[in-house]
Amino acid sequence: MRKKVTVVGAGFVGSTTAQRIVDRELADVVLTDVIEGVPAGKALDLLESTPIVGSDVHARGISTASGDYRETAGSDIVVIAAGFPRKPGMSRNDLLQANYDVIKAVVEAIVPHSPGAILIMVTNPLDAMAQAAYRISGFPKERVIGMAGILDSGRMSTFVAQELGVSIDNVHALVLGGHGDTMVPLPRYTTVASIPLPELLPRERIEAINQRTRDGGIEIVNLLRTGGAYYAPSAAVVQMVEAILKDQKKIMPCSVLLEGEYGVRGVFVGVPVKLGARGVDQIIELHLTPDEHAALHASAAAVRELVGVLRL
Ligand code: LAC
Repeated sequence: MRKKVTVVGAGFVGSTTAQRIVDRELADVVLTDVIEGVPAGKALDLLESTPIVGSDVHARGISTASGDYRETAGSDIVVIAAGFPRKPGMSRNDLLQANYDVIKAVVEAIVPHSPGAILIMVTNPLDAMAQAAYRISGFPKERVIGMAGILDSGRMSTFVAQELGVSIDNVHALVLGGHGDTMVPLPRYTTVASIPLPELLPRERIEAINQRTRDGGIEIVNLLRTGGAYYAPSAAVVQMVEAILKDQKKIMPCSVLLEGEYGVRGVFVGVPVKLGARGVDQIIELHLTPDEHAALHASAAAVRELVGVLRL
């Protein structure tokens, strides 16, 4: 059976996600957007790359301006990257209401055509939008997952490798919490060739890396000026897509509904999860120090405030 992934939103995140899925021959792709022409044009261009890169998958783009999502039917995964991006001076939270309206329309339209799909949420503010998709879809919590922890951990890994002048292959960073200013970089669980980071760097250098990680999204926004990051975000999405389609049972940090894990209940927050064909196979509970625990709870409280505004 061929695999099918719908990517909603043909902006930079959506189109680079589609490209990575096609390049890696993971699945047929349907790329959608509410604008005319662009999704069809990008998908056709992508399809015409398949003989050159040697990838035997289909790509198709459709405009959903009319509300017609039939082309997306039977998707194994739906990646939702539609919505308004950040501009300099905006926080992810500034997008709350506008992007909620976008997400609501998309999820309501997609779900009847792909009732068995796994939803991967990318739109900001990430954790609140994942929670919105969970409520609107009515899907079990295992099948609604937010992408952020892989991106934030990837940023932290990059900065650690730069600081130490070591191969990126040696570095495995871990960032938990919401995808925002309160995210929780965990140096104790960040290793370089299996060595915990605190053994290699003094506290103030680690704190500088933590802060650059928290500011990682806005650092890119300030450089690009017209929107946010997309290469690292799309790479993170596709790591999740691959783990699900291949039932890899890979552990990675993702935003999921917590129901008592880490002492948090009823809110989407980034924690390590095992991803496979069912979606979230397991939530991994780490032992946290009192400071780390408090930071995770503060981050969960920040997400809870946003979902409260949306009355989710
Ligand atoms: C970032 C945006 C995607 O962190 O939230 O780059």
